[in-house]
Amino acid sequence: MSVGAEIVVVDPHHPDPAVLARAGALLRAGQLVAFPTETVYGLGANALDAAAVTRIFGVKERPADDPLIVHVADLAGVLALVTHLPPLAQALAARFWPGPLTLVLPRGPAVPLQVTAGLDTVAVRMPAHPVALGLIRAAGVPIAAPSANLFTRPSPTRAADVAADLGSRILLILDGGPTTHGVESTVLDLSTHPPRLLRPGALTLEQLRSVLPDLAAPAALGAAARRSPGTMLKHYAPRAEMRLLDGAHPARVLAALAEEVQAAQVAGRVVGLLLTDEDLAALGARAPGPGVRVAALGPAADLAGQAHRLFAALRDLDQAGADLILARAPPAAGLGLTLRDRLRRAAAGRVRLVE
Ligand code: TXA
Ligand code: MG
Repeated sequence: MSVGAEIVVVDPHHPDPAVLARAGALLRAGQLVAFPTETVYGLGANALDAAAVTRIFGVKERPADDPLIVHVADLAGVLALVTHLPPLAQALAARFWPGPLTLVLPRGPAVPLQVTAGLDTVAVRMPAHPVALGLIRAAGVPIAAPSANLFTRPSPTRAADVAADLGSRILLILDGGPTTHGVESTVLDLSTHPPRLLRPGALTLEQLRSVLPDLAAPAALGAAARRSPGTMLKHYAPRAEMRLLDGAHPARVLAALAEEVQAAQVAGRVVGLLLTDEDLAALGARAPGPGVRVAALGPAADLAGQAHRLFAALRDLDQAGADLILARAPPAAGLGLTLRDRLRRAAAGRVRLVE
């Protein structure tokens, strides 16, 4: 699969200007380039080139009704994409950009409808990654970029993940090492009153509430899915069947997990455990027995670490031959809200509530 793309290693803090210039020239010529951001790797195209943007959907096998985020390097870049920048957007940009916040704003005439799936809004973000920012500047154009995975697969947090999914379909992957956050940006719709959180992400609801005290928790999945098509349920999924266990009583959830592991073993299935260090210790599964594969997410209290490892762990469990992946939902606060969202989608809605 990975024959084709050239993988060029770049220093994530001080990328080689010559490499960025070459990648920028490819983008201006209508080609696609995969690059690291602080959240996940993106598959970039010149956002002002409708044909290049259309190529993104083909390469990812992504439905054309799922709009893209446009990445900019400065506020002037945003102004070129929108009809106007509301005061609230300016306040959020001042507080959180560059960073993992995507704002849905009124679309300006320069943005091709292919980018926004025909919507009269455009999603914009200024990434906090020297390679992404340097690439946007080198290209001299805004960059439309979804996560650089095949549609429905876990988002890529390592260049090797991009190569595994898209290596035979694109020319260049900039390898800036593993991404920091490991989960995608938070998507906030400012085109509605009041603003709506469309996708929980690397920037937490609590952080957003420092500017927007009344911001509600994300809408029910069904409602969000209609407004923001990419938030559909089966997304970020491993090849293995995945099941998510949830419940307020840890001891009961762990007992249910242990039962599920045993049942799967009896059925001859290879079980992947996607759990915190504490849960793995409690299950006694630190030393994987036959038919058990383990992906440790790190300490339960370190939600940022769990987010950083989540998608890579899903891919690693697939790679290790797991037929069934079992995971447990963390509490819904801070990044826990984002982790629950991604785990639930990875499980394609197969959530077992243990009372
Ligand atoms: O962190 C990220 O956001 C990464 C990196 C590469 O920047 N990008 C990313 O893009 O996750 P993607 O395409 O995988 O997810 C974009 C999300 C989708 O859920 C899409 O529906 C939503 O943003 N979106 C884009 N434009 C929108 C719009 N005009 N209105 C509502 N939702 C929009
Ligand atoms: Mg994506």
